[in-house]
Amino acid sequence: MAEDTVTVIDNRTGKRVELPIRKATQGPDAVDIGKFYRETGYFTYDPGFLSTASCHSQLTYLDGQKGMLMYRGYPIDQLAEKSHFIEVAYLMLYGELPQQQELDDFRNIIMHHTMLNESLKSFFRGFYHDAHPMAIMVGVVGSLSAFYHDSTDINNPRHREIAAHRMIAKMPSIAAASYKHSVGEPQVYPDNSLSYTGNLLNMMFSVPCEPFVLNPVAEKALDLIFILHIDHEQNASTSTVRLAGSSGANPFACVASGIAALWGPAHGGANEAVLNMLDEIADVANVPKFLARAKDKHDPFRLMGFGHRVYKNYDPRARIIRSMCHEVLAQLGDANDPRFELALRLEEIALSDDYFIERKLYPNVDFYSGLIYSALGIPTNMFTVMFAIARTVGWVAQWMEMISEDNQRIGRPRQLYVGPTQRDYVPIKERPLTPPG
Ligand code: CMC
Repeated sequence: MAEDTVTVIDNRTGKRVELPIRKATQGPDAVDIGKFYRETGYFTYDPGFLSTASCHSQLTYLDGQKGMLMYRGYPIDQLAEKSHFIEVAYLMLYGELPQQQELDDFRNIIMHHTMLNESLKSFFRGFYHDAHPMAIMVGVVGSLSAFYHDSTDINNPRHREIAAHRMIAKMPSIAAASYKHSVGEPQVYPDNSLSYTGNLLNMMFSVPCEPFVLNPVAEKALDLIFILHIDHEQNASTSTVRLAGSSGANPFACVASGIAALWGPAHGGANEAVLNMLDEIADVANVPKFLARAKDKHDPFRLMGFGHRVYKNYDPRARIIRSMCHEVLAQLGDANDPRFELALRLEEIALSDDYFIERKLYPNVDFYSGLIYSALGIPTNMFTVMFAIARTVGWVAQWMEMISEDNQRIGRPRQLYVGPTQRDYVPIKERPLTPPG
């Protein structure tokens, strides 16, 4: 028997099938089931991808048991402490930390693609004033391919790179324009002399009638949050981007599909849901009632910002963001913000509750990010948009990695069909009446 294989025995027929094991550099190796159907006639079944690796990747590694996250091998806490968003974006796209000249050039490229085509502005005016900014993002990002079709040849590596730069550069401009539309203020042009996050804050909060003073604490806090959100291996939105991209769709369309997937409350929409939940709980006295609801299987309510498919330990991003939350609230927000108090109390109670302990449900990154956004003056419905800006780096890096593979194929999951077997069409007058109920 070959050493690096797994043998599967079909108890129905006694047939043995040897499946090769693909080696990981870190974390679990994977059994290659590519030939499984051909050799056995069975599909494998794994809804929600609990055990299935959908691809191989060199970008991000996370160990859920240890609560560990690395980008290109660098631990997230080192990057959060020592690096900055643009440098980490470079690392993700190109695989190595840049030399000074490479970093300067990259920053220059990103900051000189920040403007939006003027015609794109009319798109924003088409949305009703109370449109959710994520709805605007999905639409506007999807439309980028109509404006920048000179970079949509996915078989051309240079086109792929230009499209990646454009998306990373323009996402803050689109996000800020969505916000400005919702508050009825004029769009603000990017200022390329500012940092990535400084420019975003300027586009969101400056108005033509008075000077805007950029707060360095806010700029730095946002940069850190963005680093933490850049990538998280094959989550729902990233997998969506990869699946859309596997069909040969243009990168702007792929990222738009990722934004749509991110919006759900089980994924990126959780940061918005956390704040709504804290507002709903309103008082520490109500925490037991909401905890009871979260534990009740007949109640759809879940404790938002708790739990993760992979982390069965404290989310390392939540640990970093938690300490930053104190700093930001002390300097910018209302240090006595009752929601922060409430969040700390909720965390304390949940972490000592058997239900959460047994299921290893720890606070995730979204539990604290919303409180920081809130202290920065960012409205709740913009939280997931902030996530999308940062995650764009991960999406385009993952997309580029996939497209540049030699044997890249369209993603096409199988299914376990459990519907009716073949039956003949019955004319309408001859159809039996279905008994009610
Ligand atoms: N509150 C109460 N119970 C929970 C929660 C929660 N937040 N999360 C999981 N559970 C329970 C769940 O009911 C199940 O219990 P049982 O075994 O008795 O049936 C058990 O824990 C396992 O949960 P699961 O639904 O099988 O876990 P999953 O891996 O499918 O879901 C999750 C992961 C993140 C969707 C889920 O934990 C959740 O809905 N959390 C709240 C939403 C949230 O904070 N999402 C942000 C995730 S981090 C950022 C991102 O990736 O976008």
